[in-house]
Amino acid sequence: MDSEQIRERFLRFFERHHHTRIEGASIVPRSDPTLLFVNSGMAPLKRYFTGESTPPATDLCNVQGCIRTKDIDDVGDRHHITFFEMLGSWSIGGYFKRRAVELAWELLTVDLELDPARLYVTVFAGDSGLGLPPDEESAAAWERVGVPRERIVALPAEDNFWGPAGDSGPCGPSTEVFLDTGDTFGPAYVPGGPFDTSRRYIEIWNAGVFMQFDKGLDGVLRPLPFHSVDTGSGLERLQLALNGLDSVYDTDLLAPVVTAVQDALGEPGGVQHHHRVIGDHMRAAVAILAEGVRPGNEGRGYIPRRLIRTSMTLALTRGHERFRPEPIVAAAVARMAAHYPHWAARRGDIAAAAARECEEFQGTVRRGLDHLDEVLDRYDEIPGEEAFRLFATHGLPVEITGEIAAARGVLVDRAGFDTALERHRALSRGAAAEPGTARRTRPDDVLPTALSGTPRTAFLGYDALEAEGRVLALLSGGVPVERAGEGAEVDLVTDRSPFYAEGGGQVGDRGSATAAGGQAEVTDTVAHESGRFLHRARVSAGELRRGDTVHLAVDAGARAMTAANHTATHLLNAALREVLGEHVRQAGSLVEPARLRFDLTHPRPVTRQELARIERLVNAWVLADAPRTVESMAPSDAVAAGAISLPGEEYADEVRVLSFDGFSKELCGGTHVEHTAQIGSFRIVTEQSVAAGVRRIVAVTRERAVELTLDQSAVLAEATAVLRTAPQDLVPAIERLARHARTGTPDSGAAALGRRWDAGVGGVDVTLAEAAGAAAGLRKEAQRLSGDEGRLAVLWLTGGARTNIVASVPERHRERIGAARLLSRITERFGGAGGGNPRIAQGALPAAPDPGVLRDVVAEALGDGAE
Ligand code: ALA
Repeated sequence: MDSEQIRERFLRFFERHHHTRIEGASIVPRSDPTLLFVNSGMAPLKRYFTGESTPPATDLCNVQGCIRTKDIDDVGDRHHITFFEMLGSWSIGGYFKRRAVELAWELLTVDLELDPARLYVTVFAGDSGLGLPPDEESAAAWERVGVPRERIVALPAEDNFWGPAGDSGPCGPSTEVFLDTGDTFGPAYVPGGPFDTSRRYIEIWNAGVFMQFDKGLDGVLRPLPFHSVDTGSGLERLQLALNGLDSVYDTDLLAPVVTAVQDALGEPGGVQHHHRVIGDHMRAAVAILAEGVRPGNEGRGYIPRRLIRTSMTLALTRGHERFRPEPIVAAAVARMAAHYPHWAARRGDIAAAAARECEEFQGTVRRGLDHLDEVLDRYDEIPGEEAFRLFATHGLPVEITGEIAAARGVLVDRAGFDTALERHRALSRGAAAEPGTARRTRPDDVLPTALSGTPRTAFLGYDALEAEGRVLALLSGGVPVERAGEGAEVDLVTDRSPFYAEGGGQVGDRGSATAAGGQAEVTDTVAHESGRFLHRARVSAGELRRGDTVHLAVDAGARAMTAANHTATHLLNAALREVLGEHVRQAGSLVEPARLRFDLTHPRPVTRQELARIERLVNAWVLADAPRTVESMAPSDAVAAGAISLPGEEYADEVRVLSFDGFSKELCGGTHVEHTAQIGSFRIVTEQSVAAGVRRIVAVTRERAVELTLDQSAVLAEATAVLRTAPQDLVPAIERLARHARTGTPDSGAAALGRRWDAGVGGVDVTLAEAAGAAAGLRKEAQRLSGDEGRLAVLWLTGGARTNIVASVPERHRERIGAARLLSRITERFGGAGGGNPRIAQGALPAAPDPGVLRDVVAEALGDGAE
């Protein structure tokens, strides 16, 4: 039976028995801060069992992707894997033990046609510590369907009390079904003797957790308001059982991935243990990377890092120079794409992330392996501290160390390793935050358990910039601390806050937090994915404590700028559609106090004329001083009302729709000005390409827009002064210079002045200057100096065999000396020849004149008086 058939038979069976089929959830848990990954079908449904929310029907079934790392050391054996698909069924406050057992038996023996003689079941043996009696009711139910007593095995709480998933939640005694895989896998069970669940008897179905309790974070079991049934069967295991396979790695789900591993390593032939482990680990890593989680050192990101590193290390220890994960990723994606289309959609990203992780760590791990070699030479049993050092410094997962050591007949002190790890964690935990830079809690980090009972942070900042909040936690390096003294950097979590947490392209607010005993600067605010705000704080005076009431004050100036920029972003969005067309889509934005950035889809550059129209239109809307209107509605109503929404964005049931008169209407959770005149002025700074078909506009508002305009005017004024031209002639002048810079020669119309000497000589403004370029340009420049500026000019060209020289005299001084007469004075002194008229004269000198001497010649000539 292939895996498709098993899936369908399972789901159809339960549908036939009036269960509603529901979708599996993402493997990244939503709003369950204590769980790294969904580890069972019931995890995403927790709230149904506690009565916090109402399920779509009493009886449900589905297939849920799961990640389990608890037994990661066993991966590669017959039936342990990290990512698996769980077939699950539930009755939430409906039927209980007897019916659950009947359904399980019917499915296994009738629909899945398993031989009843090969099935064993386990039931809860009771627990005096928990004060719970043996589960006689389940045992009796199994007997009723025909399972003989000797195949009903009572096991203690560690085997048959399931849950909760994570640190708290629904749990209860369970009953599980095992398949006898025969004598080749060990001796048969004898009632009263040990029941070998590792090889011979393989669990194929947890046919019922009978959820009766809600375990609190304090460890206390409290009765649930109603009882439920939660079942789960690993699809891969079930296929193993139904097809009599040797291991789950022979199933049609895993075999292609294991083959890809063999191909990638160039190790055909029999499947070896490391092929299985790498296949499992890379498939699980793909499942995680597909959710956008990236390898990292803490929390959720550590799992893919460990999976990929272990795979890589296994390859390196088998003599491979490099480990290339891409073909294995491709095989895993190809095999699962039908059920997980987002794996296929993100195939490129997943492969790139895996490859990057390998690139980055190949060197470190190789050094770690060399170091391990030395360590192995020294010990018969590697001390825990040493194993920890290999892990902490070289990134060698302890299971790898263990495996390599085992191959050399060396043991690893795992308990010692755990102690070292715990000590390290305790050290980094401390009771108070140390001054200095601590790692910040990331939005997707798993929050410490201490926070699970605390509420989401209520955002007050649409209306208020200051408010009182209570400190629910101070996190230092992700670890909760009781207090934070001066200099400490902590993430401050409060129950309410006027600070806007980064989101929707708008940056987080900054400001201050003041308690009775101390004060902190808040440099940024981000929202943890559980909805709690993390105020990035640095204690500037005194001390902050958990439980403090703090006065939270947003930096009003920065917020006013941000609000203006955010509203301007909406106006820009609307103007772009009006000027460029309705095809324009927002492809990302960033709104911060200093500026706004807006990416849009548009097939070509936005022209200068278009940009000017956009600027005019936005500024017209600013001047219209339209008031802000905010409404709350369902997303579909908002879109029907013409509100702009972001493509691909997931919205809540109720969305905030923000309008400014008739010209802008958008779904938005950000903070905005109350009326558009508060934007003051809007200016575009740049427009450029960021990717094929995507343009980026950067713009500014308010004071920044005024400053930009002033800066631009100042540059214009300076440029016209340097080039001695009028603003309207600036562009041609620059073009000439640019041409010159490119070709090395000015065109015939241009001469670029080099060194120049300006002086007043006998009441006449005189300019003497060297120039580069053509002689015609020299004349023009001299005429310009005399005509526009009334200066007597003597200019000469450098760089030639002879020195071209031009003299020009403004009209009002020609009575004192004409240009031709001046030039002949010059050639008299320096040699050469030339001629012209009173206005302008031109000639050549044998060499460049000495400016000081030239100045004297000019002074003498002026002293001569009228000609
Ligand atoms: N939640 C139960 C399990 O995962 C069914 O085994």
